[in-house]
This record gives sequence, C-alpha cells and structure tokens, in this order.
Amino acid sequence: MKPLYLKLTDDQIIYSNNVNTLGKAFYELNPKLNFQENLQTFKNQLDASCDVIIITNPNKYILKKNIFLFNKVIIDFGTELENIFHIPVINFDDIMSSGLKAAFKKELNYTTWHLDYYGLDHSKRQYGQESMQTVGNGFLGLRGSYFESKANDDNYPATYAAGVFNQLSTPINGQNVINEDLVNLPNAQYLTFSIDDGPKFKINDKDIQESLRSLNMKDGCLTITLLIKLADGKELKIVEKRIVDLNNYHDYYLQYSIKPLNFSAKMTFYTEIDGSVVNSNVERYRNLANKHLEIDKIQNNTDDAILLAHTNQSKINIAVKSHLNYPDSGIYSTDNTSEIANQKVEFNASEGTTYTFEKNVAIFTSLETKNDLELTINDHTFLANFQEAFAFNSQAWKKVWQQEDVVVAGDVTAQKLLRLNSYSMTTAAQINANKDLDISVGSRGLTGEGYRGHIFWDELFDMNFYVLHDPELVKSLLMYRYNRLRAAMDYAADDDYQGAMYPWQSGLYGDEQSQELHLNPITNKWDPDNSRKQRHVSLAVAYNVWNYYNSSQDEKFMAKYGLEMLLEIAKFWIDKSQYDETSGKYTIADVMGPDEFHEGYPGKDDDGLKNNAYTNIMVSWLFKELHQLLENELSDTVSENLHPTNFTNEDIKKLNEIRQSLKLDFKADILGQFEGYFDLKEIDLEKYRQQYGNISRMDRILKAHNDTPDNYQVAKQADTLMALFNLRETDFLQIMNDLNYPIGNPNKFITDNIKYYLARTSHGSTLSRIVYSMLLLKIHDNSAAWKLFYEALTSDYYDIQGGTTAEGIHLGVMGATLNVVTSYFGGVDYRGDMLEISPQLLKQWNEIDFKMIFKKINFAFQITHETIMINADQDTEIMFLGKKLPLTANQTIELTF
Ligand code: BGC
Repeated sequence: MKPLYLKLTDDQIIYSNNVNTLGKAFYELNPKLNFQENLQTFKNQLDASCDVIIITNPNKYILKKNIFLFNKVIIDFGTELENIFHIPVINFDDIMSSGLKAAFKKELNYTTWHLDYYGLDHSKRQYGQESMQTVGNGFLGLRGSYFESKANDDNYPATYAAGVFNQLSTPINGQNVINEDLVNLPNAQYLTFSIDDGPKFKINDKDIQESLRSLNMKDGCLTITLLIKLADGKELKIVEKRIVDLNNYHDYYLQYSIKPLNFSAKMTFYTEIDGSVVNSNVERYRNLANKHLEIDKIQNNTDDAILLAHTNQSKINIAVKSHLNYPDSGIYSTDNTSEIANQKVEFNASEGTTYTFEKNVAIFTSLETKNDLELTINDHTFLANFQEAFAFNSQAWKKVWQQEDVVVAGDVTAQKLLRLNSYSMTTAAQINANKDLDISVGSRGLTGEGYRGHIFWDELFDMNFYVLHDPELVKSLLMYRYNRLRAAMDYAADDDYQGAMYPWQSGLYGDEQSQELHLNPITNKWDPDNSRKQRHVSLAVAYNVWNYYNSSQDEKFMAKYGLEMLLEIAKFWIDKSQYDETSGKYTIADVMGPDEFHEGYPGKDDDGLKNNAYTNIMVSWLFKELHQLLENELSDTVSENLHPTNFTNEDIKKLNEIRQSLKLDFKADILGQFEGYFDLKEIDLEKYRQQYGNISRMDRILKAHNDTPDNYQVAKQADTLMALFNLRETDFLQIMNDLNYPIGNPNKFITDNIKYYLARTSHGSTLSRIVYSMLLLKIHDNSAAWKLFYEALTSDYYDIQGGTTAEGIHLGVMGATLNVVTSYFGGVDYRGDMLEISPQLLKQWNEIDFKMIFKKINFAFQITHETIMINADQDTEIMFLGKKLPLTANQTIELTF
C-alpha cells in the first residue's frame, strides 16, 4: 500500500510518502482558491500516486475524525480529501491503534456506505442535505431533518406518502391558478426536550457544539448525534435515530436518547403529531395556497396518539398513529390543540444516565387502505421496539443490496454516490409497498416538493434500473400509467386527437398538471410555461412498456395492459402526423422536444415546433416495434387487443407508411433539432459565462434581457441525440434508413452531431450531462465522457444547480447514472433478445461488479480492464463482443478481451 502523509497548517499542506520525512515538501494554500480548489491543485501537482492518505494532525473533535477549524470555518478535511483523491483517508491515530491495513479497510467500508454531514448547515444547503438523507420505503419519505426542528429557513422536516396529492387554487395576475401538490403530511417526527420547565430546545448554532448526521445506506438508518452546551453551562448528548420499515411499509420508528453530561434536573420530553403543517419547501411557491389538510379528529389512548385528517380537495383520508415507549419513571400527559396531538413525559434526569424514548408511527391513507381507516389505525400494532424494527429492517435492506449493489473498486466517492443512487431509487419505489400502490416515481422521489412531486418522462431514466433489478416493481409502476390511460385519451380528445396523449406532468388523476406560468427568479416575473407541449412523454411511456416487456417477457401484462397502451399512444401519433404534399413527407407539428428552452419559433409563442427530430425518430421506432409485434409476434394477444382499442387494419397500414416518411431536417450531416433550427441565430455562450458564471439556465438569463432562447441555437439538455440514448446504435441507424435519411458514415455522423450539440448545450437539466457522457463513450472520447459522468454522479451531492437539491433529489439522473455504469462501462446491453456484452471500463476504476435479471435469469458480472466473469442461474446464451456464447447454469465463466 502506498501511503501519503499529510499535515494541514493555517497556510500549507505538508506532505510526504514517508512519515519520517514529513516537513520537507509542502503545498502553499492559495487564498484566492476555495478549499476544494486548493485540494485539487495540490493533487495535480503531486507526482507520485498513492492509495491511502494519512492525516497526521491530532483529532480535536469528538463526533468525527479529521475535522479542522480552518480560517474560522469547520472543514471535514477527511471527506474533502476523499472526494478529491477518491481513496480512503484515515488519521495517524487509527494506525497507532489498529495498524494501517485494518484502518484502511475500516474506512473503505465506512465511507462507501455512509453519507455524513458534520456540523450545522443553513438555508438551501441544509435543506439539500435533508433531501439527500431522506429515509423512505416507496410509500413513505421522511426528510432527514433534526427531530427538534420545525419548518423554517434552515430546516424543513416533511413527511410524504406516495400518491397523496391535493389541488389548491391561487389568484395570480387576475387568473386562478390551480396547482396539484404532493402533500406534506402531519409531522410526527417532532421530538425535543426541556430542562426544569424551561423553553423547549430548538436547533441553533449557539448551543450545538458538535453535530453529526450520518445516513447508513446499508441498513437505511439515519443517526444524528448532537453535543449540546447551553448558555448556563449544562451539557447534553443527544442521539436520534430513524428508520422507515421496508416490509410493513406504513410504519416508521424513531429513537431519541438524552444524556445529561454534567447535571441532574427535572426534564421533559415532548413530541407531537403536527397536523398544522403546510407545503413550504420550495421558496418560489411560498406565496401560493399551501394548506392542504383538514383535521378531523385527535385522540389519545394511554401512550398512543391518533390524528385523522383529510386533504381538502382530493378528499384523501389520512390516519396517523403513534405509540410511545419511555422510561418507567416518566410521567406521561397530553395537551392537544385543534391541529396538534401533543404528548410529553416528565422525568428526573441524573447526570451520566441515558434516557431513551421511542416513538413508533404508522400512516395509512384511503388510497391504499380499502377498509375503514379509523378501525384500521386503531387496530394497528407495531413491532416491540426500535431494536426489533431495526433488526428486521436491516435484513430487508440486506436483501435489497444483494440484488442492487453496483460495486466499484478504485474510487470511494463514486462507490458512495452509486450506493446513494441505488438507495434513493429504493426509497422512491420498492415492491413491498408499490405492489399495493397506484403510483409511479416522481422526478424528486419522496424527498421534497420541487415539481410538486409530479411524474414526468423522467421515469424513462429510472426504469432501466428497476427493470434489471425488480421487474415486478416495474409492472406496478406501469400500472399507474395504465390506470390513467382513459385520462390520457380524454386529454387527446380535448385537443381533437384520437388515442392517448399522456400529460407532461402527471399527479393523482393523470390529467395535465404542468404549470401555465413559471416564476423567473432573475426577474421575479411569472412567464408563460408551454412545457406541456412535450408530447414525447407518451413515447417515454411506450418505451418503458416495451423495455419491460422485452426484458421480462411478461406476455400477460402485454396482453392485458401493455399493448393497449402502445396502440392508443400510436393512434395519437398517427393522428398527429400530417401528410405534406410538397415534401411528400409526414410532419408532426406543435410539439416540444426534451430541450425546454425551445417552446416555439421566434415571435410565435404558442404554436410549438415542427418535426422535432427526437420525437419523430421515437415515433418511427414505436411504429416499427408495433408493426413487428402486430405482424409477427403475439398473435393471440393481438387478436384479444385489436378489438377493444379499435385499432384497424387501416391504422396498421398507416403506421407502416408514416414510420418510413416522417420528416427530419439536415444541414450537411448535422441533424436539426427541429425544422427551421438552422435558421436560428448562434449564441456566444462564452460572453454570458463571463457575465453570469453559471449559465445553465440560459432561458432565464435571456428572458431577463427581454430576449428568449427561442431565437437561438442553445439547448437546455440533450434533445436531438436522446434517441441514441434510448435505442441501440444499430436500431437508430436502421430507423434513419427507414426514414430515408441513410447515414453513410455512422462514426462521423455521431461524432459531428455530439460536438455540434454539446457546444450549444448549457446543461440546465441534470438529465443532460449523463446523456452526453454516454454519447461520448460511444465515440470513445473517454476523458470528456468521464468529466460529464462525474458531474452527473455528483449532481445532488454538490447540488450543482446551486440550490435545487433543497427541493428534493433528482431521481432521473440517479437512475441514468447507474444505467450508464452497467450498460456502458460494464457494456451489458439488455435491449436485444439476448444480453450483448462489450465492456469499456474507464481507467479511473479497477473493477465493477453487479447483478441483473434478464428474461427471468439472474446474472452476475465482475468486470475488470481485461477480464469479465459471468454467472447465470439458468442455461442461456449471450453475445460477447459480437460472438454468441452459451452459458451453463451456475457455472461462472471468465473471458478475456
Ligand atoms: C427537465 C425535464 C425534466 C424535469 C423534471 C426539467 O428541468 O428539463 O426534462 O423532466 O425537469 O425532472
């Protein structure tokens, strides 16, 4: 093992490969750079590599090692170094106590399973960290706030249950604007204490000496430890833990331990079920109506409290029950108000003794509970205590990780963040809960109120991960769309189209929930929002159905639900495609592509765009798949389904005709994002970069200059080339052929188009970089691919959009990142009849290991730069580097390349 020893002083990092020569080489910290930039510069100037860093400064803080006060700011030096060097960082003390090897192993294990925040943070940063540390189970999401906090500018404790939406109306500019929100449910997480009947303890900088918030992704438990010193000198240690039960998905368990360190006194423990909460996570929505709950009943029986409420428009009933476990000597009492169930326990606390309070909470709603809610909640029982719940829950998480863990060797930060992505995908949806729910995954999971909890085309970015790890779950998520097929057909009919037009933003009912107005934070003005014209969302629904069907071979689902969705979606696109005599081609007009900067042509706000390349290619793809399905496969299934959807022979003829003659626009070999794209002006992004620094939201910047991105060749995110993200290159090229735009030199075409569009993309969506990263891998521009991949991987960890993680994590990029690792770095492509494998592990990593389920077979892969080990639990065949290979059940094969 090659160690690097470091010592941090006020203005230098002193370093050496040998502890005995420490003091000879140093890096002078540059005051013009921030700490991270300094560490990066320091790393760049080192000439030898290392695989462990050992900090020789003594530890000064109790709750975490390698924390230092640097320029009056607390720095988690260990974590900062790990994130720059991507290797474990330990302290010299650790070697002294357990030896280098053991200390290295311990840190490697700890850091790749934990997401820790040391110290109190504030405002959007703290909000963002709470989003990241959300604990959940697909039904419930509890933001990772301090138990003692109430919603304010620094903390936003919130509880969400999947599918609980409610609409409220707010007058804006003389119009009543209706918004549908994922409702913030009663807060039963509130726990705090007082001493000698003094004020209730609140989170504040003055009293908290140290704070460590640690999410253990392995067992799903969030632990917050506080060392408190009050103004009168009294010191306490508080440990707060929470888990959300993966099996009994209505339940969550809290544990709160109070230890007076230097005093004895009468103390009081307080807790609530607070039904007075409102939706106030997103700053720019705060002036909109936000009180969704009406309280129906609050009752206490012995140590239990029950709160019944309903949402005031959607009339969803909600029942919350809590049960308290507290020390025997405690005196329990209640003091309810009209919206809050208050409970308290008074006890005499002795110095040095730990007093532990436990609160078990259950939430039921009338959405997933068909029996009487009040009876159900009254009869509901919990596991005996936190310890028991923790043990069961850890087992459940173990099973999740056995299936989902993507293991990376050689990069501790990537490992941590890939695990965070899998963790977040699981807390957003998991089969134990979702089998009973009528919901899909929102763009922010269950972690915040950004985009109001709505469901977008982002499902497409998440679905691959779910398809490969839990096909049953995917079926349940797709049923959310099937159950809203009528709503999508009504939406199409309202616009005078046949078939199904899914809404851009979907909530409870599946009607259109996109905003009509969007607040521009630069001008503080509400601008019209036409994003609903992104009709490609229906193509994403179709793609997800096809993707699930291809890899699960679930004929039953296809026969009963999938095909009907595909046919209705196809009917809509048939109707939307208009034949144009002059060009002899079909045109699809009045749409938007994924690039939300282009809502229409210059000067024409409401007409949308013509012949968006992504949309047309995906329509052609859908029609082709359907045609094949209708002609060759599934004959019984087809006959069962053709009648109910009224999909006629004429329709089949039409889709075959349209799929071969949709119009695209080209300039040399550059495929135009839409018809007329090349008439738009070029933009000097560099000029804006110099003025604004961050230009990701060029739309807002241009609008602040009374201009609009509609006038320019500038994109928020990958659009034209998105089809290459969804489809295999061979299928893409075949479609271009079918459309009569054959690509003579595919490599040149892909390279030129990537370069063209990358130079015009500001990455205003987290969904952008990961798509480009994958495209760059395609053309073997590994260093550019790696850069974008890493930025995508750290989207929420570094909150790269400067504050949007406060409103919830970005689930789409999390899912897509995992997909790029297995499908591109691992090179396991599951979009054909059999797995096609061609690994392309980048030099930054040594190995990746992962599992997947494909066509009901469990596969396991271990991939290095030269070898791949594959195990399948049934006899099967794979395609390896273009050659067919048989696999024998449970016999691992090793291949070299
Ligand atoms: C992106 C969309 C995405 C939405 C929800 C927007 O910023 O442009 O593509 O669907 O966020 O995540």
